[in-house]
Amino acid sequence: MANTKLASDYARQVTVIDHPMVQHKLSILRDKNTSSKQFKELVKELAMFEGYEATRHFQLQPVQVDTPICKTTAYTLKGRKVAVVPILRAGLGMVEGILELVPAARVGHIGLYRDPETHQPVEYYCKLPEDIDTREVLLVDPMLATGGSAVAAIEFLKRRQVSSVKIRLLVIIAAPEGIKAVLDHDPAINIYTCAIDERLNEKAYIVPGLGDAGDRIFGTK
Ligand code: PRP
Ligand code: URA
Repeated sequence: MANTKLASDYARQVTVIDHPMVQHKLSILRDKNTSSKQFKELVKELAMFEGYEATRHFQLQPVQVDTPICKTTAYTLKGRKVAVVPILRAGLGMVEGILELVPAARVGHIGLYRDPETHQPVEYYCKLPEDIDTREVLLVDPMLATGGSAVAAIEFLKRRQVSSVKIRLLVIIAAPEGIKAVLDHDPAINIYTCAIDERLNEKAYIVPGLGDAGDRIFGTK
């Protein structure tokens, strides 16, 4: 958990999930010797932990329940509609974890890849639920590096009338540069991450990071 100074600068918009179980799993995820199978499982589990934090603001309503012992007032979620939107490809690895938590969520997809030379995002696909503007959106991608992909995805959502305050960006590792880029672009976005790392290297990879998340999830390298 490097960069505690940065975490406090952005404390209002950025939540670092510092739970010991999350930090333990993140250490295994970073390890270059972790298999693709275990990597995928960990990405899913970490997404679920982040999902808990990112839905903390959901409201509850009282309901009457008969337990085997007596009647009681219990609480259920009050009418929130959720969409989970992965940024392809690596974001796909986080979808299942969120759906275990919010099974009724609809799934949209935004296809972006980083040009290896310019590091700029290139768009290739966007399919979102028709009523996306009425939903709370959990935008998921394991890596927030330069922030270019996240900013482009946020723009796709805003073009479909999703308000900034309804967009929560869930990443597993963030670089300071990426957090700054997203919040300079739109200061109302809430970001959830398991760690804020030190910096980007000359190839715009996060240091220390975990390497290429898409390749490690899908075993493509
Ligand atoms: C990775 C990652 C993010 C992006 C982050 O995807 O999953 O989408 O890079 O970098 P940025 O913040 O500098 O935009 P990549 O472009 O490698 O595509 P992939 O998921 O298909 O592997
Ligand atoms: N994309 C990744 O998968 N890893 C990084 O470190 C940066 C961008």
